[in-house]
Amino acid sequence: MTYKRTLITAALPYANGPVHIGHLAGVYVPADIYARYLRLKGQEVLFVCGSDEHGVPVTIRARKEGITTQQVVDRYHELIKRSFADFGISFNIYSRTTSAIHHQFASDYFRKLYDEGKFVEQTTEQFYDPETGHFLTDRNIRGECPHCHSLGAYGDQCEKCGSTLSPEELINPYNAETGNPLVKKPTSHWYLPLDQYQQWLEQWILEEHKEWRPNVYGQCKSWLDGGLRPRAVTRDLDWGIPVPVEGAEGKVLYVWFDAPIGYISNTKELCDAQPEKYGKWETWWKDSSTRLIHFIGKDNIVFHCIVFPAMLKADGSYILPDNVPSNEFLNLEGDKISTSRNWAVWLNEYLDDFPGKQDVLRYVLTANAPETKDNDFTWADFQARNNNELVAIYGNFINRALVLTGKYFDGKVPAQGELTDYDRQTIDEFRNVKVELERLLNDFRFRDAQKEAMNLARIGNKYLADTEPWKLAKTDLARTATILNVSLQIAANLAIAFEPFLPFSSAKLREMLGLESFSWENLGRTDLLAEGHALGEVSLLFEKIDEAPIQAQLDRLARIKTENEAAAQAEALKNWQPVPVKTATNIDEFDKTDIRVGTVLECGPVKKSDRLLQFRIDDGMGGRTILSGIAQSYPDPSVLVGKQVLFIANFPPRKMMGIESQGMILSAVDADGKLVVTTVTAPVRNGAQVG
Ligand code: 2FM
Ligand code: ZN
Repeated sequence: MTYKRTLITAALPYANGPVHIGHLAGVYVPADIYARYLRLKGQEVLFVCGSDEHGVPVTIRARKEGITTQQVVDRYHELIKRSFADFGISFNIYSRTTSAIHHQFASDYFRKLYDEGKFVEQTTEQFYDPETGHFLTDRNIRGECPHCHSLGAYGDQCEKCGSTLSPEELINPYNAETGNPLVKKPTSHWYLPLDQYQQWLEQWILEEHKEWRPNVYGQCKSWLDGGLRPRAVTRDLDWGIPVPVEGAEGKVLYVWFDAPIGYISNTKELCDAQPEKYGKWETWWKDSSTRLIHFIGKDNIVFHCIVFPAMLKADGSYILPDNVPSNEFLNLEGDKISTSRNWAVWLNEYLDDFPGKQDVLRYVLTANAPETKDNDFTWADFQARNNNELVAIYGNFINRALVLTGKYFDGKVPAQGELTDYDRQTIDEFRNVKVELERLLNDFRFRDAQKEAMNLARIGNKYLADTEPWKLAKTDLARTATILNVSLQIAANLAIAFEPFLPFSSAKLREMLGLESFSWENLGRTDLLAEGHALGEVSLLFEKIDEAPIQAQLDRLARIKTENEAAAQAEALKNWQPVPVKTATNIDEFDKTDIRVGTVLECGPVKKSDRLLQFRIDDGMGGRTILSGIAQSYPDPSVLVGKQVLFIANFPPRKMMGIESQGMILSAVDADGKLVVTTVTAPVRNGAQVG
């Protein structure tokens, strides 16, 4: 270990809404596990975060709610800060980017680079709303997605299909708020010439940081392979930190320029306030014996691995991140989490519904952490992990060990007599847990690390099940004492091992055990609780969650889904333009197409295709199979069975996914892109011709 201290940052969340489980799983729980682990090891750690209060999303929220932007960020900053505290995220500071310290710091940072000629100034054409007289940022521009053709995609992303976009790609771009069509107009901005850092970044990341997670390394490599281009660090906006250059009125620092500087200014705020405790901020940012670790989500990789390091390098006096453990995304019940579509489990609401169950959520989110790929949160899994793991394994073991000690030894740690081979084998097993846990935690593999901690509980549970002290107590109290002594030592080990993951339960367990010494180094020891030591009051560490609260959550999500579908349809209808009628044809041409009526006998999904449905049709001529690309519009294809539909009967057969399709089902396209199968207004004979 060549470093003396670790500075841990967690991505600054936008103060445009409450935080949800995706935030917690992707960034804040892993960062907190790591910070707690290092602290428990006695290392010097600073864990820094705060609200990201600039940028367009907050201004959009303000206009939607008819309040000022400052009111929006004040409200969400407080709410977010509270949620993090409620979930035990152990920041040393949680500040905000609207603070005076941050404004000054970010402004000075820009000015220094500006004075040193580190930026280039460029004039480009940007989307402009002539009606409101405003340039529009990517997020404020909407239009048709060039990929999935859903209407209302944003200038930076399509929420429907998830593609990253630039406003130029949108079809018929319009002002998201006013609906006005947009024009292009020239404006000048300052750019960080990332191209000039390309070679250095290639060496630093691709050669010197091969140990970064494959998802992080891979994304950096693909950015670098694509060739870096200068990036604008200023914007035409009236919310943000004014560009400290004469003649730059109406321009502010780009939110992605000022936000990462927030890590530094927040550190400064803390150190300036308590220098005796935290030292100088420069020690954390400019001393090469400090190790800097950024915890982020995958949409932030380019900013933390390429843009921010280039900003730090441009200044020249800062250290660079040592690692950037970034997670992939967490989905909710199979769908992408979305703040704007309210498709999320909000932390504040979770605590209203499951008071005191912070650790259950922490546990489930880590067990399911999207470390290497996107993962799904489901309420069924939440319930199962609580009931079958936390309650049935960890809680059950602790409860049995403590209750039996109360029953047979008056709540005092009994004497550890002679150990049997089986006792020793159990102790060896749980000693190995420490080595394995450390290896995984040092490697940022929190999901496997937590599994390992749970293994410790499994070892304890098995030990009790195998030795059955409740039966022995009547005949051999000395042996019972030894078994319970070993069990209580395992319980004390569990309190330590789980502290980074489940801090609330560890604190509770620690109290129940009356455990004094509490450090990582004690893990693996079998003398943590001395003979005769009195245990505290015993209560359940975890409680079973039954069906009703889970069903309530599923009902809530079902309601939101229905509301969202209605809203998407309304939005689509608002923007719907009639498709121009095709050029004229004549009856002879039309006659060549043989349209018939048939009854759907079977209809179901095609394996490995999320687009195709396979129909078996009674066509009055012996039947046929037809494939149709309408699966997205019919999540339950069985609704089509028994319906009479129109199909083209004389298309040449075509093979798709290894299945031959003998025709084409005719569907109408609705305003939102949904396909609706056509039918007849009264039953007719199958095989009837349409014309
Ligand atoms: O993606 C986000 O939520 C951003 N607000 C993260 C900013 S991280 C850092 F740079 F401050
Ligand atoms: Zn799309």
